[in-house]
Amino acid sequence: MDILIKPWTVDDAAADAVGVMLCEKQEHANKLIAQAIEAGDVTGKQNGVFVITAYSLPCKRILVAGLDEKEKLTPDKLQKAAASIIQKARELRLREIALALPDIDLAESRITDELVQGALLADYDFAKHTDAEHKKHQHIACLTIAAGGRDLDKIKNVAERAKTIAQEVCAVRDLVNEGSDTIHPERIEEEARAISERHGLAIEVITGNQLLDKKLNLLHAVGRASRHSPRLIIIDYPGNPHSTERIALVGKTITFDMGGVNVKPAESMETMREDMAGGATVLGAIDLACRLRLPVNITAVLPVAENAIGPHSFRQGDVITAHNGKTVEIKHTDAEGRLILADALSYVIETKHPTHIIDLATLTGAALVCFGTHLMAMLGNNARLQQRVFDAGEHAHERVWALPLYDEYKEDIKSDIADIKNLGDGRNAGTIAGAAFLAEFVGETPWVHLDIAPVAFIEKASNGRAAGATGVPLRLLVELLSNW
Ligand code: BES
Ligand code: ZN
Ligand code: ZN
Repeated sequence: MDILIKPWTVDDAAADAVGVMLCEKQEHANKLIAQAIEAGDVTGKQNGVFVITAYSLPCKRILVAGLDEKEKLTPDKLQKAAASIIQKARELRLREIALALPDIDLAESRITDELVQGALLADYDFAKHTDAEHKKHQHIACLTIAAGGRDLDKIKNVAERAKTIAQEVCAVRDLVNEGSDTIHPERIEEEARAISERHGLAIEVITGNQLLDKKLNLLHAVGRASRHSPRLIIIDYPGNPHSTERIALVGKTITFDMGGVNVKPAESMETMREDMAGGATVLGAIDLACRLRLPVNITAVLPVAENAIGPHSFRQGDVITAHNGKTVEIKHTDAEGRLILADALSYVIETKHPTHIIDLATLTGAALVCFGTHLMAMLGNNARLQQRVFDAGEHAHERVWALPLYDEYKEDIKSDIADIKNLGDGRNAGTIAGAAFLAEFVGETPWVHLDIAPVAFIEKASNGRAAGATGVPLRLLVELLSNW
């Protein structure tokens, strides 16, 4: 989708339709819109998009979306309104859309950012494997921000940046949506190498017996039953040579989670190509850090494996020594994410000495049970870092909510035959048990764990987002790292 900025208003916007956003009881200077408000057709409530035919105007149609009461207006409502206008335009098979900057009490750069991201993310669907005729809605070819008399250059810069971010979110969605027969560990390595080469970044890949040589035994055990061998990928982005800080972003990258010998039931396994969303998001973050030249040092870490079933599978009752020397009793082979992350976390701490760590993982179904698809779970060992992640999530509309990590939960993962086990108190407090396990591998380094299982993949389209991968929480990360 091309994005243009023009000094248009509703009256002279030359597109197939112009989108207008209104608060409740807000008046409008355009006569047709004023008449529609007068007639009660347009109310400013957040309930869908109203189409006004306007053949007397160059745009021919006005698509009006409500923003709710003025006093309750939050930036995410702008994004949702822009998304609903774009979806309506796609249903109507329109190609060129103008969006009028609404007259509201918010900086125009923020408004532009929300509108462009809302529009681009709503233009996405994963339809590359279907015939063009079967694709439900066509895409928007060109979006013009109708900026009236405002500062066009400033708006253009914001729009460019918003477009770059939204494109990356869509690239992450593509990577996660694609099936695991295509996106397997080798392919993840290829993607990582392509990003590194494009930007001249150093990359290290540890695979096969090298994993055992470096005592990455948990990662090796989880991945060894698959035809695609497991690997640890590490990419360095030196964004700020003047800073001693280094942020490690660690993403769970299970290209498919069968559950191992504790095999998942078919319904739970259906979407398990999503189990690499953490790693895909970390790759997106490192690519964006380069494209946006974020002034911060980042190390991306992807433990990559397929949790398969076969004669080589690891099994319940096995005791495996982790990279940091702790022994782990395998209680459940479907709790594999914490195992591969454990080795990745202690390895990056040993070799890169990060000052902060954030891990992203589709770790537990329990997080989805707890929060539905609206929030991800956050746990960690550092209140200040948690607050920063929380704030970034609020800004980016990719919200997190903290769960506690009290010592009692650390008792729950003690094992009778090893130092720890990869399960807590049965299935109770599953999300906390997962984080309590990871906490054994981060020591004192300030660390936040995001359990993204609730938000990474949605089975039904909602809030302007297509069904499938969402690309969340890439925008949270960009917000956090941009203001680091
Ligand atoms: N990948 C799953 C978690 C998951 C579930 C992600 C639903 C996305 C949507 C993870 O590896 C897993 O299987 N977790 C188990 C842990 C249990 C065995 C302690 C779970 O949540 O059931
Ligand atoms: Zn699992
Ligand atoms: Zn998993």
